[in-house]
Amino acid sequence: MKAYRASLLWFAPHSEGPVRALFEEDGLLVVGPNAAGVQVVQAIGAWRDLAGQYPGVAVEHLRGRIIAPGFVDLHVHYPQTNVIGSPADGLLPWLENYTFPEEKRFADPEYSAQAATFFVAELLRNGVTTTLTFATSHPESVDALFTQAQAQSMRLITGLCLMDRHAPPDLLNQASAPGRLDAAEQSLLESEALIQRWHGQGRLGYAITPRFAPTCTEAQLRGAGEMAARYPDVWIQSHVAENKDEIAWARALFPQSRSYLATYDDFGLMRKRAIYAHCIHFDDDDRALMRDTGAAAAISPTSNLFLGSGFFDYAGADRVGFQYGLASDVGGGTSFSPFHTMLGAYYVAREGQTKQGLSLSPQHLWWQHTAGAARALGLDGSSGAPAVGNLLPGCEADFVVLNPKATPLLARKTALAANLDELLFSMIVLGDDRLIERTVISQAI
Ligand code: GUN
Ligand code: ZN
Repeated sequence: MKAYRASLLWFAPHSEGPVRALFEEDGLLVVGPNAAGVQVVQAIGAWRDLAGQYPGVAVEHLRGRIIAPGFVDLHVHYPQTNVIGSPADGLLPWLENYTFPEEKRFADPEYSAQAATFFVAELLRNGVTTTLTFATSHPESVDALFTQAQAQSMRLITGLCLMDRHAPPDLLNQASAPGRLDAAEQSLLESEALIQRWHGQGRLGYAITPRFAPTCTEAQLRGAGEMAARYPDVWIQSHVAENKDEIAWARALFPQSRSYLATYDDFGLMRKRAIYAHCIHFDDDDRALMRDTGAAAAISPTSNLFLGSGFFDYAGADRVGFQYGLASDVGGGTSFSPFHTMLGAYYVAREGQTKQGLSLSPQHLWWQHTAGAARALGLDGSSGAPAVGNLLPGCEADFVVLNPKATPLLARKTALAANLDELLFSMIVLGDDRLIERTVISQAI
């Protein structure tokens, strides 16, 4: 066991109602192994209340520091690290001119391995300890990322990108040896082999990953949905309703579905543990479909602002009541830093010309990138699943150590904070990787 004395930030349990951050100025966080040997939070609270209960446990005193849950990035593309900051006239030209050419390079296992090493290090450097991420349509790219995440004990979910039409030929899933299996069949076989190899190994999870409906045939979507039914604890990830041209394309390809989102439902791809990136251009029937199926949205504000895709409608989501969390969506997104993403979410929510504008509270923004995102993934301790994104007892001990004096402006501004909301907002607005002094990952013993 080990204990940390510092200021502590965490969240009240979801069962206790609306989002509520908890803060202890002089706190003690005690971590130690659970019955399975995984490092989890044993206790959290005021130092004066807890210190006497753990005699003999080594205490690291982090003066002036804040310990907070590790961040959860609900949607990011590891093969797009080099694509950050590539300008285009919207999503579809951006995919064609920058993203697809870069993703082709991941056919090479060595290219994948060095990109995976950088990606995992960059996430950890930014305080992200759990992520749901895209790879490419090459199985080698999936193996490379899982291998690197395993080496770092990081909780990471990824899967083979399913894409059997409407992309450059060498980026499409490939058919098997001449005449045996077509690309859809082969991609599903490869996905299943990757599930067997990686899903549930330590902290790794698999996600069935149709890129988006326009680059998948009906046969591929149908097969993906059937696999999702056979593996209910595997995740699903895709994109939906991001951009007007994309929506028109999806509607033309799948006219029998009620909406773009409904296309996924028609192929069995909406259920708990299904995470859809963007979810911007929805009507209330789409929102109800998200709610009723238990699917969740990965809100990607820096990406949506950079690509000019639109503004996620928080009021609409909350009125109907579906789950969501925050995501960087690198490389459409412009930063790995959760602080930049939370600030982007504030801008997107505030926008009031195309939908109702809301001023999201800093506690809510922070929750969306930690406990809220973990809940959207089903990693909140319910139904026997592990819990991340929070520091309640039993949660896996993934956390960040923040230095609120990391820059002169942060030091000046955080010193003026009169309450928790002011402190959190100062860090959301002014923070970046410099605020993350250390990232601690739960280890199995
Ligand atoms: N839709 C399909 N593929 C992508 C992608 O790589 N990034 C984004 N932002 N949207 C997509
Ligand atoms: Zn994406």
